Amino acid sequence: MTKKLKFQTPRGMHDILPEDQPAYLKIAKTAEEMMGFYGFQRIDTPLVEDAELYEKATGASTDIVEKQMYTFKTKGGDMLALRPEFTPGIARAYFEHGMVDRPQPIKLWTSGPLFRHESPQAGRYRQFHQLDLEVFGEESAAIDAQLIQIAHALLSDLKFSHLIIEVNSIGDSQCRPYYKKTLVNYLRARQQSLCADCKRRLRANPLRVLDCKEEKCQRVRSQAPQMVDHLCEECKNHFKQLLEFLDEADLPYHLDPYLVRGLDYYTKTVFEIFSDKTVKAPEAEDAPSRTALVGGGRYDNLLKQLGGKEVPAVGWAAGIERIVELMKAGGVISEHQVQPKVFLAQLGDLPKKKSIKLAEEFRKAKIPIADSLGRDSLRAQLARADKLGVPLTLILGQREVLDNTIVIRKMDTGEQETVALGRAVEEVKQRLKG
Ligand code: HAM
Repeated sequence: MTKKLKFQTPRGMHDILPEDQPAYLKIAKTAEEMMGFYGFQRIDTPLVEDAELYEKATGASTDIVEKQMYTFKTKGGDMLALRPEFTPGIARAYFEHGMVDRPQPIKLWTSGPLFRHESPQAGRYRQFHQLDLEVFGEESAAIDAQLIQIAHALLSDLKFSHLIIEVNSIGDSQCRPYYKKTLVNYLRARQQSLCADCKRRLRANPLRVLDCKEEKCQRVRSQAPQMVDHLCEECKNHFKQLLEFLDEADLPYHLDPYLVRGLDYYTKTVFEIFSDKTVKAPEAEDAPSRTALVGGGRYDNLLKQLGGKEVPAVGWAAGIERIVELMKAGGVISEHQVQPKVFLAQLGDLPKKKSIKLAEEFRKAKIPIADSLGRDSLRAQLARADKLGVPLTLILGQREVLDNTIVIRKMDTGEQETVALGRAVEEVKQRLKG
């Protein structure tokens, strides 16, 4: 048994082990291809931003800013935060680099690590990765629908089959204040039945009460007035169009009248995508809860709020760990691992030196090759080649190096042939074809 070290990964954080890398790679490749197809350009923003950016954008009374942000003061006295989400940083970059003056829409995507000091549980980490995309300068509901369709297509390409899209509209600065008043009146009358957090939310951010997972708050919620019944004409039309586009695209969506999302910047469309499959954390005792794979929405006021021009915008982010966990549970990963086609065995110092150069020739020819440069026994190397299941093994001994030749061994029959070293790649290519 391995001895437990004093040092472990920090709570809520995790190593991405070699066996999990193929899944991360598969997601990255699928996303990159899809983003290119839909005309998104990659952007990368710093891991840290001014903490005030998140207070202004994500919202000072959201859980993310109130409870989960890792903030620190630099030696120069600046207050920075490890990014808890991408949207504010990308919106900042959009203005800072004058993208607002370029032909719109501007379509950007990114991926990388984020940090939220959450209570660790299944699918909830303190360092996690997202794939995020944002579209600036387009107000039509057609874009909202297209973004939902892209998220659905991405997950479908990753072999997710039972997806549920939840959508809602949370109105805008015209209609939401009236709805908020109606909601607060309703909740105040039932204040005693709410959890302590929601009693506080009632004053600071009443819509968030609708998002509370506590059973008693959900009971209160079940009779609460709904935003969709209080939308202004513009928001109503926008939502109606969105649903028509989703119908036309045959996407499996549900209306969730209480979906509000945990970030303050949203206007009109909000949505989340779930898989009906769940993963239980090994240490968790209770039943696995359904967690969103993707969350997003429209945020037409955010850019103005940050001090810029009014620019309509919409986007989403997918939680990569959650996707990987479900891919692992469904056994969709191993097929994406690069399978070596050839094993290169060497016997002695001189062959070892030649092997390094030869392996590089195979890499250039795009033939995946495996070797075991640390081992000298031919038996051990052939056993490893066998285990890897390669069809061919190349054997390079002292004599071959002196003769400028190499032996090609067919692993199924044990048949061996000697060929010129300079033709190794060509000879292997021919045999792999045949
Ligand atoms: P979000 O809902 O906070 O939205 O996060 C999006 C997704 O990131 C979630 O659905 C989930 O899959 C994943 N996620 C969030 N927190 C964690 C965590 N602690 N551990 C593991 N996965 C997590 C946003 O971040 C918005 N910025 C999305 C957006 C982009 N809206 C408009 N544009």
